Amino acid sequence: MLSTLRRTLIKKLQKVFWIYWTDNFIVVAGSEPKKAEPAIPCSCIPITYDNCWRVADFREKNCISEYQAKLCRKELGFFAESYGKVVGSIWATVNNGSAPTIVRMYMPLMHKEALIHDIVTDPKHRGMGVGPFMVEKLVSDLFAVHGAVRIIVDVNVRNRSSLRMMEKIGLEVKEQMLYISALGRLVLQKTLRAYS
Ligand SMILES: CC(C)(COP(=O)(O)OP(=O)(O)OC[C@H]1O[C@@H](n2cnc3c(N)ncnc32)[C@H](O)[C@@H]1OP(=O)(O)O)[C@@H](O)C(=O)NCCC(=O)NCCS
Repeated sequence: MLSTLRRTLIKKLQKVFWIYWTDNFIVVAGSEPKKAEPAIPCSCIPITYDNCWRVADFREKNCISEYQAKLCRKELGFFAESYGKVVGSIWATVNNGSAPTIVRMYMPLMHKEALIHDIVTDPKHRGMGVGPFMVEKLVSDLFAVHGAVRIIVDVNVRNRSSLRMMEKIGLEVKEQMLYISALGRLVLQKTLRAYS
């Protein structure tokens, strides 16, 4: 209940004013993540209007409408399924247009660039390699099926679990960035550090 309220409040605040301080992992052909073997049997299934209710296996029921809204915005999602239950989900947004665009109110994407976001695993299944498994599968799919040429995974610099997840699949931070959005628009973007 508290986590739902917190999430709702954050989403509202993000529409008004938000500072994103992120480590960005950038994947291009030739720098794909290592194969990830989760500690439990796992498969990835695309999220569709017909199955998005299954998010309720591991998150609050009100996430169903959130996932439907994501599908309406043409975001691409996968569930991780284990022993018949959904134990995680992951989403990506691809810029299929010819012009650069800003997605999620702060992230600039060029033509055929993709952003991976909203990675979440069931709290009871964390630390089992489900997150890295989903990232690796979604990266492969974005290159092979959706024609992505560059994929960004931005992680809050304080999110240790997420940074560890990326380390497990051999991805390295390429840049540390600061984005500020106000009233749903990107107002400042600054590279704090670039790594070779
Ligand atoms: C970040 C997240 C997706 C990682 O998924 P995961 O399936 O647990 O990934 P991993 O199994 O690779 O675990 C990564 C690290 O999380 C930490 N971790 C382990 N168990 C944990 C638990 N029960 N709770 C929180 N973190 C845990 C560990 O440091 C682990 O590294 P280790 O296996 O070397 O000890 C997951 O913690 C999560 O859903 N967090 C909340 C949402 C979030 O922050 N999303 C990230 C957006 S980029």
